Amino acid sequence: MGVTCDDTAMDGLTRTGEGRYASTSAEATQALGELLGALLGEGDLVILTGDLGAGKTQLTKGVARALGCTDDVTSPTFNIMAVHRGETLDLYHFDLYRLDNADQLGDAGVLDVAGVEGASLVEWGEAFADDLGDERLDVAISRAPVEGGAEPARTVEVRGAGVRGAELAAALDAAVAGSVG
Ligand SMILES: Nc1ncnc2c1ncn2[C@@H]1O[C@H](COP(=O)(O)OP(=O)(O)OP(=O)(O)O)[C@@H](O)[C@H]1O
Ligand SMILES: [Mg+2]
Repeated sequence: MGVTCDDTAMDGLTRTGEGRYASTSAEATQALGELLGALLGEGDLVILTGDLGAGKTQLTKGVARALGCTDDVTSPTFNIMAVHRGETLDLYHFDLYRLDNADQLGDAGVLDVAGVEGASLVEWGEAFADDLGDERLDVAISRAPVEGGAEPARTVEVRGAGVRGAELAAALDAAVAGSVG
């Protein structure tokens, strides 16, 4: 599926270094997610790190759009996992906020899916990253210091772990560079 985000969304996205991006709007973070979604394949695992309201779900919305998922994407904070059927690939969206320790990962279903079926995006997964897989993309979203009460820009840092993770990180960096100049 092609990338369909409009130019206005892309205007809010800048590449500030290798694997490092700045986003000034929710739409721009979604646009980054859409670029990522176009690269994902069966078994890929993405760990999303960032505080409450950082933008992990906004990025996931963009991924879902790229995969052709039509239903609404929200954080599955209480159900822990949401499955969105895509045209090209299914999206398994996890939110591990309520998990206290790695023993609970099996019950949460994430060990059955991550790295195996569809593409898995895991919010609040950083504490369990090594348990979830060695081949993964780590995406950290943080707010810039607040200036004068305005909505702060987000910094997004992307790092690949393992061979596939490095491949995805490089491909995403090239895609962003190609889209935002
Ligand atoms: N540049 C930006 N990128 C992403 N979201 C932004 C940005 N600027 C403002 N926002 C707003 O910040 C909020 C991000 O919410 P989101 O649900 O994506 O956070 P989250 O990281 O998934 O939080 P949680 O841990 O609670 O699930 C949204 O209300 C969005 O509109
Ligand atoms: Mg969320």
